[in-house]
Amino acid sequence: MRSSGQETGDHVQTVDWVPEGVDLDRPNAARVYDYYLGGAHNFAVDRQLGDEAIAHWPELPMIMRANRAFLRRAVQYLAGSGIRQFLDLGSGIPTAGNVHEVARAVDPSCTVAYVDRDPIAVAHGTALLKGVPGVVAIQADLRDPAAVLAHPDVRATIDPDQPLAVLMVAVLHFVSDEDDPARIVAAYRDASAPGSALAICHSTQGERGDRAAEHRQFYTRTATPMTMRSRAQVAALLDGYDLVEPGLVYMAAWRPEEGLPARPEVYPGLAAVGHTSR
Ligand SMILES: C[S@@+](CC[C@H](N)C(=O)[O-])C[C@H]1O[C@@H](n2cnc3c(N)ncnc32)[C@H](O)[C@@H]1O
Repeated sequence: MRSSGQETGDHVQTVDWVPEGVDLDRPNAARVYDYYLGGAHNFAVDRQLGDEAIAHWPELPMIMRANRAFLRRAVQYLAGSGIRQFLDLGSGIPTAGNVHEVARAVDPSCTVAYVDRDPIAVAHGTALLKGVPGVVAIQADLRDPAAVLAHPDVRATIDPDQPLAVLMVAVLHFVSDEDDPARIVAAYRDASAPGSALAICHSTQGERGDRAAEHRQFYTRTATPMTMRSRAQVAALLDGYDLVEPGLVYMAAWRPEEGLPARPEVYPGLAAVGHTSR
């Protein structure tokens, strides 16, 4: 990590959590998401993108919190169903309700491998997890399932002979059609032991296609442009998984704790949890 001047309003603040090689001049999806969630691990360039996006779509922070809440409910369900290992692909910068905390509240023996391509997300994960056995954070690209699964820290944490929950929450829309997300999801599925599961949440256009299109436009400024997908396209990614109730639905409608929202389509991410069919 290195020290770096960070502009906050009129002040320049020194931060000591910036790993070498991080591009501070280009907005980054992990840090923009952190900004939407009210986190502190973002830069002026990320906040600028976030503020512009919020000006077009004021509900964005609420939508991101709904995504994070889906992740928490999905992990609670999966740990409750007896799964004890989690592979969190595109895990992001650690924030409230981290997967290992949620899973270990159900059973302290749960193990978690966090995977993100963003060095800041991984640096914070590593710092947070220092001295926590059975939980690791690695920097890797989920588009290379063989490399992720062969990583020594993943191998030390995940037993390939035991059921595994693969989490791909708010990340597959950063994988282009060219990279063939169905192939990627299938590779993790095929490497999972019987009784494994998948939780997914994927951006879709929802009720306001115009705003979604503008939103996608903002991310062309990052290294990870967005590909929003239709319900049929997201459903096609779930091949080989038997979905638990209520199936593939808007994220706020997936087993809500406080009753079904009046208009779940306001939260335009499609979410599902399924168990492998075999
Ligand atoms: C919107 S955040 C989601 C974080 C977390 N899964 C959640 O739902 O709260 C998306 C994360 O995916 C990561 N990401 C994007 N493309 C990736 C890739 N190809 N491999 C690994 N991580 C990726 C980004 O760096 C970012 O941290």
